[in-house]
Amino acid sequence: MKILVTGGAGFIGSNFIRYILALGRKYTVVNYDKLTYAGNLANLEQVSAHPNYGFVKGDICDASLLESAMRGCDAVVHFAAESHVDRSIYEPSPVIRTNITGTFTILEVARKLSIPRFVHISTDEVYGDISPNEFADERSPLQPSSPYSASKAGADLLVRSYVRTYDFPAVITRSSNNYGPYQFPEKFVPLMITNAMSNQVFPVYGDGKQQRDWLHVEDNCGGILAVLEKGKIGEVYNIGGLDLEENLTLARRILQLTGKPESLLTYVRDRPGHDRRYALNCEKIKDELGWKPLISLDDGLRQTIDWYENSGPWLAGVRCGEYLTYYEKYYLNREQSLHAIASAGPTTSE
Ligand code: NAD
Ligand code: DAU
Repeated sequence: MKILVTGGAGFIGSNFIRYILALGRKYTVVNYDKLTYAGNLANLEQVSAHPNYGFVKGDICDASLLESAMRGCDAVVHFAAESHVDRSIYEPSPVIRTNITGTFTILEVARKLSIPRFVHISTDEVYGDISPNEFADERSPLQPSSPYSASKAGADLLVRSYVRTYDFPAVITRSSNNYGPYQFPEKFVPLMITNAMSNQVFPVYGDGKQQRDWLHVEDNCGGILAVLEKGKIGEVYNIGGLDLEENLTLARRILQLTGKPESLLTYVRDRPGHDRRYALNCEKIKDELGWKPLISLDDGLRQTIDWYENSGPWLAGVRCGEYLTYYEKYYLNREQSLHAIASAGPTTSE
């Protein structure tokens, strides 16, 4: 099976490519990625010379390049997105462009080429805030809170409309918060681990009592593969780690595992529109496709910390340049920057 993977140089995409290539010669992968700040070919060093792997640098909004890369593929797994909630609040324009126009473009190209199978990678954030004791299943309403999650919900609805209108062979996954090796250190887990490693503060948004469902990226890869191989066309599958944790508890656990003091915890101004709780019901993928998460949060965290502690050159390659500018603006000068966003008009567009 020849698969076009979009966004394969990012965190989950690169883990997915390594995951399926490790299964043997069953899959050939074409990785189509624009290499934004979040895309990094170093994530794929282990497989770059693999005979079943190829790379095309391209934007998912570029229909003609996409068409030449997709021609002859048996399936598309669509990861490419602007994936960071905070950045979507600071500058929504690239998020709307890639996540909505990009998804529309890829749907059109795949439809034109009659691609037999399309897996759209979505997120639990489309369900919005989930009340205590409740769990979102695949029929729960879409109530996104950030420009990021609204753009992902928009993309989901476009995919759904293509299934209904054009008999387009798509399936959708909605996973919870992933963590694991090769995650860009703007997200909570790798940010806290790498800050611990360099004795920098742990910036906890608001009261730190927000809950997330943590899923090891390898478990997500297993779930996506199950959906690719056996998912029913037109269906949505939740994929969660079933390990709900408050941010503060998770931060304390990372401090403990890295042997750093609690004094590194620092409460900072909250993310605007911050959802308090995500929680998924994952009975459908368990019952219908036989998938369940295998890596506990405790084991996964230990393994992830170990990976970051032993990946100095990779880390030096990402904790530099634009990352440092971003860090300075939204962490070291957070009050000022968030105040400016709250009081300013629209941000620049591309
Ligand atoms: P990431 O930010 O690490 O990677 C995104 C990749 O997409 C990068 O390689 C980037 O270069 C590429 N990309 C961005 N815009 C592009 C464009 N216009 N054309 C081509 N390539 C482009 O993201 P991630 O965390 O690996 O997330 C992957 C997917 O999974 C996203 O769709 C995200 O919404 C979804 N998701 C992520 C999580 C999570 O916890 N990280 C959870 C649920 C769902
Ligand atoms: O739920 C799935 C989503 O998980 C994906 O769709 C997104 O692509 C992915 O980025 C992630 O979104 P979150 O906003 O949940 O992840 P993030 O790592 O940014 O934040 C996790 C929690 O930690 C959230 O409640 C905000 C909080 N946080 C985050 C950062 C970066 C902090 O308290 N401090 C921080 O510095």
